[in-house]
Amino acid sequence: MRLRLGVLISGRGSNLQALIDAASDPTYPAEVALVISNKPDAAGLDRARAAGIATLVLRPKDFADKAAHETAMIAALETAGVGLVCLAGYMRLLSPVFVQAWHNRLINIHPSLLPSFPGLDTHARAIEAGVWFHGCTVHYVRVEMDTGPIIVQAAVAVADDDTPDSLSARVLEQEHKAYPLAVRLIAEGRVRLEGDRAVVKRVAMIVPIA
Ligand code: GAR
Repeated sequence: MRLRLGVLISGRGSNLQALIDAASDPTYPAEVALVISNKPDAAGLDRARAAGIATLVLRPKDFADKAAHETAMIAALETAGVGLVCLAGYMRLLSPVFVQAWHNRLINIHPSLLPSFPGLDTHARAIEAGVWFHGCTVHYVRVEMDTGPIIVQAAVAVADDDTPDSLSARVLEQEHKAYPLAVRLIAEGRVRLEGDRAVVKRVAMIVPIA
């Protein structure tokens, strides 16, 4: 049986689309079982519906507090038989209740080479800092934002004349390869956690990913 993914989104959903596209190959070891959005107008919901995937909108303001909202998300993911939760542009900080419930079964994609540039506006900050390399990171989620064992990273060179938009576009291309790769590695049992480090077996890293 394929690993069942629950994908949490807040917006565009291009990384969700990358996972949907990867899973359209029946030999891919994972499938998207449920998409949850905290925003009813997230474009990613249409992508899921177009692929015939179950969707759920859970708006925080419809719940008494953050714990109640997250408890509802946990219940929906469990009911859907989800084995791995993927944050894909989910722009709310998850509380320890949620993070612990899915410990080592919860991953995120972040648009920088962590631990550099956690948080927002990563592309503008990378340009501002003058780094030569920027990129994206797929990592297990820990309570502290944008930390946790790194599963896959992909780097791009920063050009002298890059703008946040141009750099973001090149990083996003890599995100769409890195996320399906990370999910595949987990689904195939090729990621081993050693303390707070993830060790990936038998992957020759080629950056950017072709
Ligand atoms: C992606 O670039 C993702 O890395 C970023 O939001 C974008 C979502 O795009 N996530 C974060 O910044 C989380 N800290 P998408 O909705 O098209 O996948």
